[in-house]
Amino acid sequence: MNDLQTPPPPAGQVNRYRFNLGSHPQDVLITGPVPPLRSILDETPDPPSRVLIVCDEHTLPPARAIATPEETPFCVLEPGETRKNWEGVERILRRAHDAGLGRDSLFIACGGGVVSDLTGFAASVYMRGVRLCVVSTSLLGMVDAAVGGKTGCDLFGVKNLAGSFYPARLVYLPLDTLATLPPAEWKSGMAELIKTAILIPDGEDLLSLLQAGPELPRPSLRTAVARAVAYKGRIVEEDPRETGGRRVLLNLGHSFGHALESSSGLGRISHGEAVAWGIARACELGQSLGISPPRRVRGILTLLQNHGYQTAAPHPLMGEPARFIEALARDKKNRRGKAVFVVPSARGAEVLPEPPGEELLLKICGITGR
Ligand SMILES: NC(=O)c1ccc[n+]([C@@H]2O[C@H](COP(=O)([O-])OP(=O)(O)OC[C@H]3O[C@@H](n4cnc5c(N)ncnc54)[C@H](O)[C@@H]3O)[C@@H](O)[C@H]2O)c1
Repeated sequence: MNDLQTPPPPAGQVNRYRFNLGSHPQDVLITGPVPPLRSILDETPDPPSRVLIVCDEHTLPPARAIATPEETPFCVLEPGETRKNWEGVERILRRAHDAGLGRDSLFIACGGGVVSDLTGFAASVYMRGVRLCVVSTSLLGMVDAAVGGKTGCDLFGVKNLAGSFYPARLVYLPLDTLATLPPAEWKSGMAELIKTAILIPDGEDLLSLLQAGPELPRPSLRTAVARAVAYKGRIVEEDPRETGGRRVLLNLGHSFGHALESSSGLGRISHGEAVAWGIARACELGQSLGISPPRRVRGILTLLQNHGYQTAAPHPLMGEPARFIEALARDKKNRRGKAVFVVPSARGAEVLPEPPGEELLLKICGITGR
């Protein structure tokens, strides 16, 4: 058993992880219910003088389970990626200022990745930095966005153009909140969960657990989230400021996925759908290069299909092939000007030392006659 395979404690308990992210540790607690403010403060050394709770209109119910707006100031944002902008950051900063929060305050983000990215960014600049706690309420947030320390907002039409590395000291993943998550958001988070299951060396048990389809019973869900958190946390620990190394593996499926998102027209296809299709392309690429064993590729493709993802190429929403290829070439996950490709290996995944030739890329993306 390697360090990435910490078995979770039995269901019903709190799974607790501590990651060392440079300046300070990050504690991640997988719970059932939303933590009340009292529990959050108990976990916070040097109790803050004031607290600001940030949520969006959809995550107001779990936020109210932390504390009521009568007890502590709230900032309620409009939901969605289109609101992940500078205005959102400014609203948080203004609310904190209006409510008289000082440097020894605590911001609590209660929501999905948009709320945690925006609140984290605002916390990193408010009075040069106040403490941050994230209560993540979406599957994508739990298995990805809440863990680590990246914050940010979209700017000038560019995703995450502004941001900071500012790890929350305390992260709660209350599984009960997922009961109200819309199916499309569930599917979006599931693609990242499947991605992580592929990346974990010896993660075959997690992959078979996910084979059952999107309806995961609670113990399996807890196990899956715990394994994903343990994996992401250890990878980020190795490289908290994303300078290279194994962290790039987390981009499995993303080069193809981002290109599909942009060629189909932003918003026409969900991030999760695009990543899942990208994972399928990475499988085919890896198999063509003799890196991804055919049996493993078949297993992954079946898993993606069981979850209702499109795996065939070309994707029906791909749009203009030239736009797709252009987007693939300029994906921001580039290393020294060359797009990075991650493919499944016999155990986990690996980064291709060189990008594949255009002919092969066109073939696996189903683009003919160029
Ligand atoms: N910081 C990081 O390391 C990191 C990693 C991955 C993704 N992200 C970012 O995360 C964002 C995507 O995260 P997301 O998918 O959680 O998006 P999101 O925050 O927009 O949430 C998706 C939708 O689900 C709603 N929602 C969330 N929890 C709910 C609940 N329990 N019940 C009902 N509705 C709920 C939200 O209001 C929203 O409408 C992107 O902006 C992405 O850039 C950041």
